[in-house]
Amino acid sequence: MATLLNIISLLTCFFLSCSTAEEATSSSKVNITELWGAYSPYFDAGTYLAPPTGCRIDQVNLLQRHGARFPTSGAATGIISGISKLQNVQNYTDSGLDFLKTFAYSLGVADLVPFGAHQSSQAGALAFTRYSDLVSARSLPFVRASSSPRVVDTATNWTAGFSAASHHVYNPSLSVILSENGNDTLDNSMCPNAGDSDAQTDAWLAVFAPNITARLNRWAPGANVTDTETYSLISMCPFHTVASFVPGAALTLSPFCELFTTDEFAAFEYSMDLDKYYGTGYGAPLGRVQGVGYVNELLARLTQTPVNDSTQTNTTLTANRVTFPLDRTLYADFSHDNEMAAIYAAMGLFPQVAALDPTHPAPRGRTWVASRIVPFGARMIVERLKCEETQTRFVRVLVNDAVQPLDFCAEATRKGKGVCELGAFVTSQTYARSGGEGDWEKCFA
Ligand SMILES: *[C@@H]1O[C@H](CO)[C@@H](O)[C@H](O)[C@H]1NC(C)=O
Ligand SMILES: *[C@@H]1O[C@H](CO)[C@@H](O)[C@H](O)[C@H]1NC(C)=O
Ligand SMILES: *[C@@H]1O[C@H](CO)[C@@H](O)[C@H](O)[C@H]1NC(C)=O
Ligand SMILES: *[C@@H]1O[C@H](CO)[C@@H](O)[C@H](O)[C@H]1NC(C)=O
Ligand SMILES: *[C@@H]1O[C@H](CO)[C@@H](O)[C@H](O)[C@H]1NC(C)=O
Ligand SMILES: *[C@@H]1O[C@H](CO)[C@@H](O)[C@H](O)[C@H]1NC(C)=O
Ligand SMILES: *[C@@H]1O[C@H](CO)[C@@H](O)[C@H](O)[C@H]1NC(C)=O
Ligand SMILES: *[C@@H]1O[C@H](CO)[C@@H](O)[C@H](O)[C@H]1NC(C)=O
Repeated sequence: MATLLNIISLLTCFFLSCSTAEEATSSSKVNITELWGAYSPYFDAGTYLAPPTGCRIDQVNLLQRHGARFPTSGAATGIISGISKLQNVQNYTDSGLDFLKTFAYSLGVADLVPFGAHQSSQAGALAFTRYSDLVSARSLPFVRASSSPRVVDTATNWTAGFSAASHHVYNPSLSVILSENGNDTLDNSMCPNAGDSDAQTDAWLAVFAPNITARLNRWAPGANVTDTETYSLISMCPFHTVASFVPGAALTLSPFCELFTTDEFAAFEYSMDLDKYYGTGYGAPLGRVQGVGYVNELLARLTQTPVNDSTQTNTTLTANRVTFPLDRTLYADFSHDNEMAAIYAAMGLFPQVAALDPTHPAPRGRTWVASRIVPFGARMIVERLKCEETQTRFVRVLVNDAVQPLDFCAEATRKGKGVCELGAFVTSQTYARSGGEGDWEKCFA
């Protein structure tokens, strides 16, 4: 019966083109952990495909976000205030809130949680098994991290997982920590005029949150929860879930998750999509320029020529072959979601047909979906390929294992799904190669 209803609703969607994406999600079983935007724990956005027949991978560049963490201090403020307002109410009209009578907030601040460490270690093990052909005693992964403790812990849990998967034969170490107070291509704190996404996320909050806020205040009469606190309380679902992980067991959803519907998580997801899009992505005038430094480092590695960058690179480090080698086969860099969004936009990944609209529900078919591009532990992998019939090298880009189409490479230079000639890929990166087409200067002007 349920299946029949699903089919009917799918057919209805097909013929009437569903009025909202929310209707479609509520009719099928959506896994809410994949609707938590940048707070989704890592999941594959696609299935890893081996490179085309006749091609072998000869270099890998991994860029990975830190794993699941505690709320930052700013996020914790809203969460604690929302929870205490609900806890100030004596009698709830809905038993869903009863758990709050004995709940005590005790999460840490900003650090990697054990579940994030666990997923990072798994990622390291996967990198070893997937790319073991590229690893030798003389060519261990070259690893860098931005200096936040959660990013450094992610990198060292990754190297530990890599080492364990090789039965401790190959033990890479974290070679370079880039200070977030200095020139750092793995963070987005160097462009003073960059601005933020508050106008867009506030506009969307005013659309989607009031009904949820009204319901919470009905369930907890007199609590006076605000829309901003509602957002914080929704975020407590992912934060409390990942913080409550018990090693060896599956993740169990926090009782905070039960307070909201799937449609409401979809609206929360869209808030995150807007945040990344207007924060450092395509919607921010000085967003993608903050990805230029990393892209220029990537091009240097792919072409094995010195870095040419006038933006965020630390030239002391990149000019030195000890701190920026060009002869390795596997590079692993650890970073943040906002920096990765800037890098995607600088490269031309996930282009949107139209700017995301902060006053209407998520447009169908958008590919800029935070949970799929920058979840906790997100990873972009750029593989360099050598194909037998020619000396020409190719590249492939995978984001969370989904092969990217690389439509920005000239058609004739593409070979099979998402495989593009290295030379054409380099040519396509005009924005980064020009140093951001004058945008970097605007960061300070
Ligand atoms: C939900 O998705 C996560 C990540 O993909 C997965 O680990 C988990 O098993 C899924 N849960 C269910 C109930 O399908
Ligand atoms: C809560 O409910 C109890 C039992 O119904 C009642 O005695 C008490 O007055 C209520 N408290 C408030 C603040 O409404
Ligand atoms: C893994 O991360 C945790 C923080 O979650 C940290 O305490 C631990 O030292 C890290 N382990 C390794 C091997 O780096
Ligand atoms: C560049 O890196 C070196 C070596 O880590 C460091 O001493 C220096 O402060 C960095 N400079 C900037 C501007 O980040
Ligand atoms: C909020 O509730 C009203 C009244 O039920 C409804 O008309 C409206 O569509 C709802 N808004 C959202 C964004 O769900
Ligand atoms: C809730 O807000 C109303 C209106 O601002 C105010 O009169 C009332 O005292 C507030 N209640 C609490 C518990 O803060
Ligand atoms: C750091 O970046 C600034 C701004 O691009 C640049 O002027 C400076 O030379 C850089 N310093 C180093 C050590 O690379
Ligand atoms: C280095 O990059 C600048 C733009 O930042 C460009 O004008 C210059 O031609 C490049 N140099 C080389 C050797 O590619």
